[in-house]
Amino acid sequence: MTINQQDLATFQSTANTIDNDSIEKKSVEENISQTVNNSAETDLIEEELSEKELPEEDSIDITHLRTPIKVDLSPVYNFLGARTTQSWVDAAIENLPMIIQDHANCEKKAAGTAMNLIFRYEFSYDLQRKLAQLIREEMLHYEQVLGIMNERGQEWKYLSAGRYAKGMLKHKRTYEPAAMVDVLIIGAFIEARSCERFAALAEVIDDERLAKYYRYLLKSESRHFEDYLALAQTLSDENIDERVAFFKEVEAELISSPDAELRFHSGTPA
Ligand SMILES: [Fe+2]
Ligand SMILES: [Fe+2]
Repeated sequence: MTINQQDLATFQSTANTIDNDSIEKKSVEENISQTVNNSAETDLIEEELSEKELPEEDSIDITHLRTPIKVDLSPVYNFLGARTTQSWVDAAIENLPMIIQDHANCEKKAAGTAMNLIFRYEFSYDLQRKLAQLIREEMLHYEQVLGIMNERGQEWKYLSAGRYAKGMLKHKRTYEPAAMVDVLIIGAFIEARSCERFAALAEVIDDERLAKYYRYLLKSESRHFEDYLALAQTLSDENIDERVAFFKEVEAELISSPDAELRFHSGTPA
């Protein structure tokens, strides 16, 4: 998905601000923890502060993330027109480092796409609020996956984009508000597919830490799919069912048909 240069510049300067903020936040946290350590009621306050100031579900360190015991994925499975094939799962396990990096890319692109939408469609409070939350969560996921790559000693390598997003975006209508509605519907499919693949990978991955992280992502990614879909319907004058059914077929075809490149959202390995 492309972002124009102006949006990219804004995004980059925003990213710098976020970075500075997090450095500042860290030093505040260090001060707080210093104060707490000097306190007589250390244990109790420390627990309260860590709950209050740094919720585990927002941690960049994946060690203490709260992994939901069970997430109902039936809405995701019903929404998608095809399930991931065993041959994709087998190939992904064989090429796990590449899949992990492509996942990092997906998180970054999800944030970039949402940032693009936030600048382009400023009229809707609901849209702005949901997108702001989405950007925050996707960037957190990006940082978490970078941390996983770092832990595994994995260097960033060149990776071209697969056919998946382009394969859907080429059907985007070119006039408003239809273009925005289509981007939101496509976003819903990307999120739902990510969710389905995290669940499939989590079941078979040997690395329990990574499997647990993928299970942690199910909750937010399944909510993202529903958020995108609800926004698409709210912002459309017409019922979007037909458009959803159209992209359901396109997406299922991209996932089921032979694909020469293996990526997080690629088709069946050719
Ligand atoms: Fe994400
Ligand atoms: Fe997401």
